[in-house]
Amino acid sequence: MTQGIKRALISAPGKVILFGEHAVVHKKLAVAASLGLRTYLHLEENDTGKCRLHLPDVDIDLTWALSDLTLDVDRVTLETGHPMDIPEEIKKQFEKWMGVTQREAQRQAVLAFLYLFFVLKTDKPTSFGFTISTRSTLPVGAGLGSSASFATCISTALLVLFHHIPVGFAQSEKRESHLDTVNRYAYKAEQVIHGNPSGLDNSVCTFGGALSFRRGERFVPLEGFQSLQLLLTNTKVPRSTSALVAGVTAKKEKYPQVIDPILESIDNISLRCCEAFKRSNKDSLAEELEDLVDMNHCLLHALGVSHGSLEKVRSVTGEYGVKTKLTGAGGGGCALSIIRDDVNVETTNLVAQKLAAEGFDCYRTSLGGSGVNAVVLDNSLDQAWLMSADRETLEMHAT
Ligand code: MEV
Repeated sequence: MTQGIKRALISAPGKVILFGEHAVVHKKLAVAASLGLRTYLHLEENDTGKCRLHLPDVDIDLTWALSDLTLDVDRVTLETGHPMDIPEEIKKQFEKWMGVTQREAQRQAVLAFLYLFFVLKTDKPTSFGFTISTRSTLPVGAGLGSSASFATCISTALLVLFHHIPVGFAQSEKRESHLDTVNRYAYKAEQVIHGNPSGLDNSVCTFGGALSFRRGERFVPLEGFQSLQLLLTNTKVPRSTSALVAGVTAKKEKYPQVIDPILESIDNISLRCCEAFKRSNKDSLAEELEDLVDMNHCLLHALGVSHGSLEKVRSVTGEYGVKTKLTGAGGGGCALSIIRDDVNVETTNLVAQKLAAEGFDCYRTSLGGSGVNAVVLDNSLDQAWLMSADRETLEMHAT
């Protein structure tokens, strides 16, 4: 992305938290893996002097003249501390640019973009313009990392556009350091969106694979990880991650003697999961993961983040001996079920049918795919192509 009109396709995976959601906010261990489903971002550099932000998944299509997007604040002030601790007059200016965006998901997405734009922008000719369009194959707001994969794609797009990292960063010798840069800004965007995120989701979406993570420390790739057969069920019950995270924090403050041991138990569940993968005994692994899934869900229930819909998924899958827990923030959103190798396809199909009859969406997907990537596209693959291409075509071009 240097001169003239150039296009790039950036993509980042969603994530599944196997164990440790919520506890990870309080520095307990979590285990998570990337998903086969991804968010795709089409970046076009042009000479319109304008910036267009097109996010159809949240009904956003905004265009600004770049000459109007100016702030009376230096980058260091903006970048220091929590992104939302910026001066009030800057917040007001952001609100003005957001215009009629009303839904929380819309506000958060535009705010994250504007914040990163001002942190990362560098001087460019006055004719310089660009369009960013995104499309996700992940259900939005369901606990599968749609916001973190969006945050990862947006931070990558702006880092590439303003030459902080090369478009071929994922194949470069400095790959690890470029990924660290992407992850740092993706975390900032997540802070704009969720308030007090642990950093787990953006780490998985940036680096891909399967990993264990403790807040404030570098993630560790999961030794002996083997992809599992999972059934993901989207209850389609909407919820707010930041409100659920704040609810657990409030409970911990009110009942520390009760909540702290629960969080400690979840830490031990994640540790036990890491040990089980390391031992690599397929038979005992499945059995142990099932136990851990069951226990982790019950502890999350005690933290107050389950929901009637999630309990329904557990009772439907439980009838067939399939173990299920909520994944992500809970309060609705998604559940994950472990499908053991000895569960036959007919049973899995039957379970999926029963869940669909309850109005839920089911996905069977692989775990542990690649992290964020960017590829240069030729001029025929424009923004309209991004919107109409099927998932296989997008996947083929994204790697
Ligand atoms: C959300 O996907 C996971 C939570 O643990 C929050 C976080 O880690 O930031 C609930």
